[in-house]
Amino acid sequence: MSYPATRMRRRRQAPWMREMLREHRLHPSDFIWPLFLCEGKNETQAIGSLRGVSRFSIDLIVERAREAAAAGIPAIALFPNTADKDRSETAAEALNPDNLICRAVRSVKEAGVEIGVMTDVALDPYTSHGHDGLLAEDGSVDNDATVEILARQALVQAEAGADIVAPSDMMDGRIGAIRDTLEDAGRHNTAIMAYAAKYASSLYGPFREAVGSGDRLKGDKRGYQMDPANGREALEEVELDLAEGADFVMVKPGMLYLDVIARVADQFDAPLFAYMTSGEYAMVEEAAAAGAGDRDKMLMEALTAFKRAGCTGILSYHALEVAHSL
Ligand code: PBG
Repeated sequence: MSYPATRMRRRRQAPWMREMLREHRLHPSDFIWPLFLCEGKNETQAIGSLRGVSRFSIDLIVERAREAAAAGIPAIALFPNTADKDRSETAAEALNPDNLICRAVRSVKEAGVEIGVMTDVALDPYTSHGHDGLLAEDGSVDNDATVEILARQALVQAEAGADIVAPSDMMDGRIGAIRDTLEDAGRHNTAIMAYAAKYASSLYGPFREAVGSGDRLKGDKRGYQMDPANGREALEEVELDLAEGADFVMVKPGMLYLDVIARVADQFDAPLFAYMTSGEYAMVEEAAAAGAGDRDKMLMEALTAFKRAGCTGILSYHALEVAHSL
């Protein structure tokens, strides 16, 4: 037998051969597009630390939703920047059926845009202290008191027309409580995307600027979000959320947690999403701006890696641009 018997490079010799053998490719339907909301009309507000991403008033959000649907993106995810006067210790605004996010959902639905609308279930856009839940006497986040509000918040959003409610708070037991509340109210078709393995990451800074919670935040979120050093624990989190009734699970952040994504994909059959967070968006954009590489190539490589790791879909601020380019 001549040496070498197997030449791996034979498979890479021409574009058609590489195309034929490619294992993973991106498609517009892989994406969920996160969008930031602000009050006002015809209002666009740049977000300093998130180059190229803006907050939009509801009228413009409806336009963005139309563009996304036309580009083949199946769903958008909404995040509100709540007016300062509506933030409080008790996060009461989260339960207001006419709050910013509920009005936005209703507007997208009333406009007849054929796109899934996902809402963020968590209290950080509504609390005066920027935490995802209510504070106990000792300053820690009170799990069970928070879960009670989250379940009501999810129902308020579902009643506004949200197709998917997505708890991003990491309280224990919230998926089960939300599922029970939705079922009791007859909302059998409202899906739950659980931020199942969400880490206490340093990559959320630009997002916190976008929703206006960053400057308020006292302390950190390590008492509820996961320790970035833990991998196995993510499997426990996913298992619990699925057992409590989550339809889909998420790992967040994504680029630095591809090992976690791969392990979850290996062990569970449920649809799996990853969030390319604001800090990861900035990693690509700022590296490109500094001349460290070709921006489009870095971006496509990063997004393709999510698919290779085993994701069903990706939440990405780049979604519309990438859907157009595919
Ligand atoms: C908060 C929430 C955060 C993100 C989504 N929901 C930030 C946080 O947990 O502090 C981060 C998203 C991103 O960085 O793009 N409920």
